[in-house]
Amino acid sequence: MGKLALQGGKKAVQSAQKAFDEQTRWPQIGKDEIDAINRLFEDANISTHPVIRELEKAYCERIGSKYALAHNSGTSALMAAFWALDLKPGDHLLVPTATFWASALPMMWHGLVPVFCESEETELGLDLEDVQKKWNPKVKAIVIVPLWGIPGNYEPILEFAKEKKLRVIEDASHAHGAMYKNKPVGSFGDISVFSLQGDKLAPAGEGGILLTDNIEYYHRAILLGDITRIYELDTPERRFAATSFGVKTRIAPVSAAIGLNSLKKLDERNAVRKANMARLSEALSKYGFNCYGDTPQWSRTYFEFVARPQLDSSNILSPDEWTAALKSEGCEVSKPRYPLLHEQPFFTEGAFKKVLRIEESKCPKYLPGGFDKTRSVNEELIKFPCFTTSEGDVLNEYIAAIHKIGTSQKEVKVILSE
Ligand SMILES: Cc1ncc(COP(=O)(O)O)c(C=O)c1O
Repeated sequence: MGKLALQGGKKAVQSAQKAFDEQTRWPQIGKDEIDAINRLFEDANISTHPVIRELEKAYCERIGSKYALAHNSGTSALMAAFWALDLKPGDHLLVPTATFWASALPMMWHGLVPVFCESEETELGLDLEDVQKKWNPKVKAIVIVPLWGIPGNYEPILEFAKEKKLRVIEDASHAHGAMYKNKPVGSFGDISVFSLQGDKLAPAGEGGILLTDNIEYYHRAILLGDITRIYELDTPERRFAATSFGVKTRIAPVSAAIGLNSLKKLDERNAVRKANMARLSEALSKYGFNCYGDTPQWSRTYFEFVARPQLDSSNILSPDEWTAALKSEGCEVSKPRYPLLHEQPFFTEGAFKKVLRIEESKCPKYLPGGFDKTRSVNEELIKFPCFTTSEGDVLNEYIAAIHKIGTSQKEVKVILSE
């Protein structure tokens, strides 16, 4: 295995940064995307081009939804989703604290109150026990998020939602192509949303898609942000065509064209990521890491790859020790990027009240701390790069680094404690 880099040995990762960038390159823009954009110029339509409808149709077909409305971001699609539910200011929604802010904050513009919940540690889905504890009669909906592409724990949460008659918003922004019990992720919400932002698995540059089977939700989403489509409604809502509800969130055709192309290539690209991440997982699993791989219930995708080292007979190193040792061997590893939402200044300092604008007495208090289960997992996760191509040596070098450290744990521990 060679001498540890911590002892002055040669690093396991020797490839140049250029090779790393090439083998983790995302998004992957090529001739197809350029041709798709050229079509818009040839058609001299860069605002309402039919490619937007083509994108929506492709998502409907793939997910099995009746209606889709493309937006200029995942955030605005979520904004429309919360609006479309037609809840009352002061109503509560359950949402994980461990997610990107857009799973929660847009609801506050409609006066809806996020009630943060813990995530469970085995699959990183919402923690049923905490969800049950946090439920109160004001709760009208729940947000589920297949974090990093892992559709963990859907069933018990969906059963709970059914029992309590909660509407479900599925923020599937990380999980294009993932399946739960042979059904596509994105088909479980009363309304589901995918972000199509450039880092995502089916990138459009900027964009988001809202999916639903409910025509009323679909129409309400149109009313909020798609002024041209209000004219097409043959319902009384058409009377709002001259004004909409004051927001414009339609996707740009350039993004729609890229997004459509990305969707066509999704399975092929997901398969490459998955094969690569399976190799990394295989190496890490030897040393007690939970790599959140597929289960009989679900098949995941790899928006990001996180793994959690657990102390057992195969591993004596803490997450921080693994991180330090992997870094010393030249690996780009870090903590996952989302801090717990409930304790961000926006909440704890009360800044959210400027957005929420409901009676002071109905405003919740958000306190830092707590959420021990979610916190301990979050602090122990190590994020590895996603390798996005089939070629190249950098992944092999990462695997070599893992084995080098894994087989020298005692030495690593001693060195790092000195
Ligand atoms: C879980 C989740 N939801 C929503 C969004 C918002 O998407 P967008 O960046 O397209 O607004 C993101 C973006 O990173 C996300 O990670």
